[in-house]
Amino acid sequence: MFRRPGGIEIKTDQQLALMREAGLVVADALAACAAACVAGATTRDLDAVAARVLTDHGAESSFLGYHGYPAVLCVSVNDEVVHGIPGDRVLRDGDLVSIDFGASVAGWHGDAAVSVAVGPVADDVAELSRTARRALWAGLAAAVADARLTDVGAAVERTVIDAGRGHGILRDYVGHGIGSRMHMEPAVANFGPPGRGPRLKPGMAIAVEPMVTLGSPDVVVHEDEWTVSTVDRSYAAHWEHTVAITPDGPWVLTSPDGGAAELAALGVASPA
Ligand code: MF3
Ligand code: CO
Repeated sequence: MFRRPGGIEIKTDQQLALMREAGLVVADALAACAAACVAGATTRDLDAVAARVLTDHGAESSFLGYHGYPAVLCVSVNDEVVHGIPGDRVLRDGDLVSIDFGASVAGWHGDAAVSVAVGPVADDVAELSRTARRALWAGLAAAVADARLTDVGAAVERTVIDAGRGHGILRDYVGHGIGSRMHMEPAVANFGPPGRGPRLKPGMAIAVEPMVTLGSPDVVVHEDEWTVSTVDRSYAAHWEHTVAITPDGPWVLTSPDGGAAELAALGVASPA
C-alpha cells in the first residue's frame, strides 16, 4: 500500500533503493551516450548505445512503447527541445544535443537528461546549456522536506533570470512526480512564485527538468507527433534529474554521487 497525501506517491526505503538502482542505470547510459555524441554519429547510434546499457543491466526502458514512443532515448538537436526521435540525422560540430533517458528496475523508474556540445559550439549556446544545468541544480537543492512544491520551480526560474541573458523557459512542458510510473503527480513547473502547492515530504520523488531557450519559449510539435522545437528556431537546452526527498536532504537518484558534490557547493546537505 502507498500513502499518497495530496495524490503524491510516498516510497518506502526499499522502493527508493530500487529507484536508485534505476537511477544509476540512467546515469551510466547518459554518460555512455554523451561520450558517443561526436561529429559523424547519428542520433540512432546514441539510441543503440543506450539500449546496450539497458541490456547490460537487465533494466527496462521507461520510454519504449510509452504512448507508442518508438525508441529508448530522446535525442533533440539545436532548436529541438525535447522528445526528438532517434534516426538518420548525423551530428555535426556546433550542435547542442539534448539526450533524455528513462529506465526502470523491478517497476521503479529513473529519468534524466543532459545537453551535450558536439565539438566547439557558439559561446551563447555553451552559456545556455550551463545556465540550464545550474537552474536544474538550484531546483534540486530546493527539494527538501517541508519546502513547498513551487519552491523548486521558483529556484529554477530565479537562476535563469539572474543569468541576465533573457533566456526563455518552456511553459508547455514541465517536470513531474516519478516512482511506480515515469510520469505521476505532481506537475513540476520551472517557473512561478514560491511557497505554493503541497509540502514536500520524505519518500516523495520528482523529476526536475528545466527546458531553456536562447529566444522565445514558444514551441511547436512536429509532424512525427513527438519532436518539440522552438517556434523561432532558437537553440534549446534540457537538463533533468530524478530526486528523492529524504529527512537528510535531496538524494539525486540519477547522479552517480547522489548529488553530494553539487549540493554541497550550493550549501545543501544530502544523504549521499
Ligand atoms: N523523459 C521525458 C520526460 O522527461 C519523457 C519522454 S517521453 C517518451 O518526461 F515517450 F519518450 F517516453
Ligand atoms: Co522527465
